[in-house]
Amino acid sequence: MCGIVGYVGTEQAGPILLDGLERLEYRGYDSAGIAVLSNEKGLQVKKAKGRLKVLSALVDGGKAVEGSIGIGHTRWATHGQPNDVNSHPHLSEDSRIAVVHNGIIENYVEIKEYLMGKGISFRSETDTEVVAQLLAYHYRQTGDIMQAVYRMLHRIEGAYALGILCADMPDAFIAVRKDAPLLLGYGQGCSFIASDVTAIIKHTREVSYMEDGEVAVVRADSIRVYNALGRPVEKEHSFIDWDVSAAEKGGYAHFMFKEIMEQPEAVRKTIHPRLKDRRVVFEELKMSPEEIRALQRIVIVACGSSYHVGMVGKYNLERLLRRPVETMLASEFRYCDPLVDEHTLVIVISQSGETLDTMAALRQAKSLGAHILSIVNVVGSSIARESDEVLYTWAGPEIAVATTKAYSTQLVLLNMLGLYFGDILGSIPAEEYASIVEELQALPAKMEEVLENTDRIKYLASVCFNHSSIFFIGRNLDYALGLEGSLKLKEISYIHCEAYAAGELKHGTISLIEDGTLVVALCTYAPLFDKSLSNIVEVKARGADVLALTDDSHAEELRKTVPNVLTIPDTHTVFKPSLGVIPLQIFAYYMALQRGCDIDKPRNLAKSVTVE
Ligand code: AGP
Ligand code: GLU
Repeated sequence: MCGIVGYVGTEQAGPILLDGLERLEYRGYDSAGIAVLSNEKGLQVKKAKGRLKVLSALVDGGKAVEGSIGIGHTRWATHGQPNDVNSHPHLSEDSRIAVVHNGIIENYVEIKEYLMGKGISFRSETDTEVVAQLLAYHYRQTGDIMQAVYRMLHRIEGAYALGILCADMPDAFIAVRKDAPLLLGYGQGCSFIASDVTAIIKHTREVSYMEDGEVAVVRADSIRVYNALGRPVEKEHSFIDWDVSAAEKGGYAHFMFKEIMEQPEAVRKTIHPRLKDRRVVFEELKMSPEEIRALQRIVIVACGSSYHVGMVGKYNLERLLRRPVETMLASEFRYCDPLVDEHTLVIVISQSGETLDTMAALRQAKSLGAHILSIVNVVGSSIARESDEVLYTWAGPEIAVATTKAYSTQLVLLNMLGLYFGDILGSIPAEEYASIVEELQALPAKMEEVLENTDRIKYLASVCFNHSSIFFIGRNLDYALGLEGSLKLKEISYIHCEAYAAGELKHGTISLIEDGTLVVALCTYAPLFDKSLSNIVEVKARGADVLALTDDSHAEELRKTVPNVLTIPDTHTVFKPSLGVIPLQIFAYYMALQRGCDIDKPRNLAKSVTVE
């Protein structure tokens, strides 16, 4: 949830570190800092609360520090409020070791007390500082930095990606990984570490992904990796084929709008390799047809928008497979003593592949014998590597904190998995299968059609943005869609929103509807259109202003009751949420724009939540 970058080479490290941190700022941005080492000036640490531009001014764009080796960090605080002292890098008491950290040291209090008992004084409130102080403590004992690293690692507990710079080792820095992402970058006469590839893609496309427990010694001309026992390991190198512009805004005002507009292309990339002769195929799946037929239950586990994908998936997969499908919040699944066994398929959905709640749920399900299939966007991420099977969404880097194209590609992938399983189970009549595949192939073009008609949505946002409380109501797939529409709006516009099953409104919550309350009524699920229409009449009778969404074939009927109707092209029921989510994304975007919110980096949020 924060950003780490490291560089060693022949150029000045300062500007390179700042450039890398700028591309990581979406991961966490309440403070930032760098540590650079040179023979002349020693270990120089510069850090500050606030956005990266504060740090950049402090170090004059990197020119105020000297040296060709360094580490950097953008923080999303977990322990210790955002301020200069709590910012990373953290120094040992003797100022000879600097550490940057992503994650949480869960036993930092006992370690801090132990070290203070040894007379060591601490500067910050953070958990991270114990890493620097404990490492220095063991370094004084052993006189060997690698031995000290392993002793420190043996003592700390929790999740951590670490960058470590020691004044006594001017030609190398150390990287460590456990339960937080860290990759190694192989440049020409230089080497890197980074939390994700966007930080270093302009310098190198050749990377490898550190595994839990690994320790890397990073030099300009070599990167040596060791496992938890200190034995050398050979790392497989990957080549990143994203273009640099994919990590830039491409002319849009915000990453979020760029990524909304990228959805048709991203969905095409998700579909195309998995559709052969009008049949859905998953060559990357290892599960045999016999294993799929033996499944007794599917449990989908995720957080946030990925959970909302799972909510749509529950309705669609149960309808396609006629098998029980349960969708649970990862943070709840972990503590409910889940009924999961070797006959259960647990589908884990995560854009970042690093969400700690989701990772913990994955590990628990695995320990109970379930087969783990993950749907992930970030290649090589922790969740991907701990799953039995992984389906990548290939949506490309998603920079905006509010997910859009990752949500859409996850949704399409999950629906395609339903078709694939249904084909094997024989639960989908041939004609139905063919019509769904036909609509699947037409989906990207229909998404483009929706994206061509945003002016009306922009206008509606201009008259709705002052509402302080908004309700999204819907039934069945529209309820699942409303969950995502509500989250999109509240997380970037800071307006309180609730998504409600429309049939449930009358059991209490309708008491909140009064003159002028804005209700977004979702009526794309055709079998319950009339019921949804009744719910609109119910809330209108209590003074609500209604903004409705339906498909082309129901628009005329709906306009008899509601003046403001947004429409999506007709499509198969399965894909209604894939089209319906786009107007809701656009609506949220323009509402937030009207309110002057920081759309790509909403307050209190981070792109990947690697704490529980
Ligand atoms: C989505 O817009 C939010 N930023 C958030 O709910 C997100 O979906 C959630 O944190 C899960 O992230 P993941 O998909 O990377 O696991
Ligand atoms: N837990 C550490 C802190 O609060 C690291 C947080 C992060 O990953 O940015 O400083």
